[in-house]
Amino acid sequence: MSIKALLINGSPRPQGNTYIMLETCAEVLQAANIETEIMQVGGRNIKGCTACGYCRKHQDGKCSISDDFTECFAKIREADIVVTGSPVYFGSATPETMAFLDRAGYVGRPLGYFSRKIGGPLSVARRAGQNFTYAQLMYWYMINEFIVPGSSYWNVGFGREIGDVNSDEEGIKTVRRFAENLVWLSEKLNA
Ligand SMILES: Cc1cc2nc3c(=O)[nH]c(=O)nc-3n(C[C@H](O)[C@H](O)[C@H](O)COP(=O)(O)O)c2cc1C
Repeated sequence: MSIKALLINGSPRPQGNTYIMLETCAEVLQAANIETEIMQVGGRNIKGCTACGYCRKHQDGKCSISDDFTECFAKIREADIVVTGSPVYFGSATPETMAFLDRAGYVGRPLGYFSRKIGGPLSVARRAGQNFTYAQLMYWYMINEFIVPGSSYWNVGFGREIGDVNSDEEGIKTVRRFAENLVWLSEKLNA
């Protein structure tokens, strides 16, 4: 059985610093023969949860709102490994990141869709808020029963303009080690 990894880019800049961190992660996963896709969520048409209650009532794995969520949700359901990256916007993850995760969690959690998948978050900012955003995303991972490996540091990067994060050697090294630990964990779990 082939292992699939989905790396979610919550930045509206498709080739920005978040992408670079996810790409670093992807290189390690691909070298271990894990089928890896970086999925763009930032800038997509994904509305926030309206608390309509459809998913709770019907428990059919669907959301009542028709937008890009449907396509993205199908991919997260299929993945064995899910990494979510977001830039920091005023101390938080981007609206699209949270809109996607809120809806995915509300639809999928009662059905155990994410239970024992593996993965984790990463965040990037010019100066401050990385840890808060990392923790904000980690709440989602934990309540959805993900198994999250650690790394040599928290998965945070520094950078403002596109490409700046390449100069954050420790940030890149941390993400690489995180990806190595994802590979290690996935091999243990699928042994
Ligand atoms: C609306 C907005 C809010 C931001 N808020 C913060 C912030 O709170 N802290 C910070 O250090 N950087 C902040 N930034 C800078 C971005 O986090 C930084 O440029 C990051 O590298 C963007 O990632 P990306 O290239 O993947 O889009 C903000 C940028 C924007 C556009």
